[in-house]
Amino acid sequence: MSDERSREDVDTPTAGVFIAFEGGEGVGKSTQIARAALWARGQGHDVVETREPGGTPLGQELRRLVLDPDGHVTPRAETLLYAADRAHHVDTVIRPGLDAGKLVLTDRYVDSLLAYQGAGRELGAGALMVTTWATGGLTPHLTVLLDIDPAVGLARAGARARLDRLEGASLEFHEAVRSRYLALAAAEPDRYLVVDAALDEEQIAAAVRDALVPLLS
Ligand code: TMP
Repeated sequence: MSDERSREDVDTPTAGVFIAFEGGEGVGKSTQIARAALWARGQGHDVVETREPGGTPLGQELRRLVLDPDGHVTPRAETLLYAADRAHHVDTVIRPGLDAGKLVLTDRYVDSLLAYQGAGRELGAGALMVTTWATGGLTPHLTVLLDIDPAVGLARAGARARLDRLEGASLEFHEAVRSRYLALAAAEPDRYLVVDAALDEEQIAAAVRDALVPLLS
């Protein structure tokens, strides 16, 4: 990560700091968010930990609908449901948190739609259009991309629980998701931290902390 990165680098005019954690299945986002939040609170920061889909009561309903392994949702409807979750989440959780000067850590954001629906479902232009509209262009100061071979990540996710509707998609789908994530990160290297999710938990947490320090100072 470049030393020049600062909160002024992106078009996010808020008092707080906004960090998104992204990646395919089984990469360990929730563990890393919990660790980053614990560390940041220890440094005296006010932290909001949230997620998509499902960071609001409405979002929890949408999450159930969109991830039901027995459900049928067409790709465009799926895109709109995730975008609806995100619009409501931005307006009721993320923006208010940032406006109050907090550190907001979200488990998934815009890039999930660009990778899963844009590349996985091949709805690139539509996914970009609806997610830009849903967020009003609110962009994280930093996106932490946890990257792993999808075969390894899916095996980890499968060991935990019954696969949801997206986890149950083909390996080819998950490879397209991974490639899009890496392409998004490569296009804006100063706004992304890409970490090998096969590293051990502590090494990943240390890399995340190092990236947060300049943003929180
Ligand atoms: P999670 O279990 O990591 O919270 O992710 C929920 C699933 O939803 C995961 O398979 C990725 C998928 N997803 C999308 O396809 N598009 C999106 O915009 C979001 C936020 C999640």
